[in-house]
Amino acid sequence: MDKTTSRVAKINPSFPQRHWLQKAATILRTGGLVAFPTETVYGLGADALNPSAVEKIFRAKQRPGWDPLIVHVRDLAMAESLAQDVPAIFRQLASQFWPGPLTLIVKKDARVPDAVTAGRPNVALRIPRHPVAAALLTEANLPIAAPSANQFGRPSPTRATHVVADLGTHVDLILDAGPTQLGVESTVLDLTQSLPAILRPGGVTREQLEALIGPVALAPSVADELAKQGLAGPGMTQQHYAPHGRVELFDGDRQAVTDQLSARAAELRQRGHCVAAIVSDEMLPAVAPVVELVSNFGAWGDWEKFAQRLFAAFRVFDAQGAVVILCVLPPATGIGLAVRDRLQRAAGNLTEPTGAK
Ligand code: TXA
Ligand code: MG
Repeated sequence: MDKTTSRVAKINPSFPQRHWLQKAATILRTGGLVAFPTETVYGLGADALNPSAVEKIFRAKQRPGWDPLIVHVRDLAMAESLAQDVPAIFRQLASQFWPGPLTLIVKKDARVPDAVTAGRPNVALRIPRHPVAAALLTEANLPIAAPSANQFGRPSPTRATHVVADLGTHVDLILDAGPTQLGVESTVLDLTQSLPAILRPGGVTREQLEALIGPVALAPSVADELAKQGLAGPGMTQQHYAPHGRVELFDGDRQAVTDQLSARAAELRQRGHCVAAIVSDEMLPAVAPVVELVSNFGAWGDWEKFAQRLFAAFRVFDAQGAVVILCVLPPATGIGLAVRDRLQRAAGNLTEPTGAK
């Protein structure tokens, strides 16, 4: 069938309609693709145990085959059926943070196809907290392999319209439950090393993890190391999550950031560039007059709200032709660590994961 756009179904996040869940589950069981909301970003799902369905994900996203996928599961029993030799710490973390924005990497069971793990011996597992994702997993009763539902290299989708824009013709059904709650992806924690290591900071903070299990490592320069081995993941390479416009970042206290960002905006505008800025509410009076496009995320320090809105702001600026995007850089604590990481990658200047000890 020649499709011009995917079917988009509005689904109620509090009481997901059974009709759409059944439809989506049937598509998954028969090897199709369903985009669905999670609490972090929208995912592009396929039956994780069906290699040809999994291949469709890579084709739709134009994702390189070396980049492994996260497997979403319904419950701990399903997670353990896909893993081998799970360490005690796995159950501890699962009972505290699942369902939620934490992805755990453990040794994979032979049932998990190589297509999912890109040939690696380990599998990434998570139980999502979003009611639609949870209901879909229950209805389908399958593990669902799902990366973020964006074109490879683009900002992750926090709304169904982003999925349509990036993958419109390649998805059999898009479940639209409105904007996602967190706006940045899950934390990816590798449990196969002697010291658990954060490969990608995300929705569960480093502080929360360390309060439960003690010190965790931040994968040192994962980008460089894995790139050398030809094993880099996109969450781990430069120029990921990137808008078309060039991103410039401003670090420091509110006053210093306001002054520096406005001065830079004025300079770029004089040269005739279309300049956009992402700033706090308090910064608006100084910044709005000297930029073409502006997005305010809320009060200075509300990095949760910043996280929620960041990727959508990138996409709006792209649509409006921003050539340069000037952006506040949050501190490397709490959710700020994840936001900082995404911004550094968008700016193409990450050499070390941010906040590395
Ligand atoms: O919040 C999220 O994690 C979203 C939602 C849809 O769950 N998913 C997501 O998936 O962001 P994706 O594919 O865009 O990012 C998954 C990250 C990648 O950086 C990938 O390289 C890494 O997890 N990853 C997956 N499996 C892995 C494995 N076996 N070993 C090491 N890294 C792995
Ligand atoms: Mg992604």
